[in-house]
Amino acid sequence: MNIAVGSDHGGFELKVEIVNYLKGKGVSVTDFGTHSAESVDYPVYGEKVAEAVVSGAADLGIVVCGTGQGIAMAANKVKGIRAAVVADTYSAEMTRLHNNANILSLGGRVVGAGLALKIVETFISTPFEGGRHERRVDLLTSIEAKYSK
Ligand code: RB5
Repeated sequence: MNIAVGSDHGGFELKVEIVNYLKGKGVSVTDFGTHSAESVDYPVYGEKVAEAVVSGAADLGIVVCGTGQGIAMAANKVKGIRAAVVADTYSAEMTRLHNNANILSLGGRVVGAGLALKIVETFISTPFEGGRHERRVDLLTSIEAKYSK
């Protein structure tokens, strides 16, 4: 499994924790930055991670900004991305099971590292359930196609 990760300055510290955690588990990680706490623009990093996921270079993505909100909005502008802002393990599990989320978005100023790593573990280890949820995810794709014209 290869995971693409990216953050702005607001998510930088938590991203470092996540990268170390994933590498420690032997997971392949592509880190798109940012690489310091200097102020940068979150859409740049949301797009980079989203591009890696839709191209197939990464199986899943993890993005982090101060709240997880802006960087998820950026990622969700890329066709084929379903980025979920998550702050609890239940939602992390359900957004994989039911929504087939392909990017996890975390708020570095919202969740502590301990909880964030549990969320990451849940997200990357939970498969999409399919079945009736396939139809609903397909409907999301239909909406995306309708408004992409
Ligand atoms: C940066 O200050 C902050 O706006 C950003 O990290 C994020 O929270 C935006 O949604």
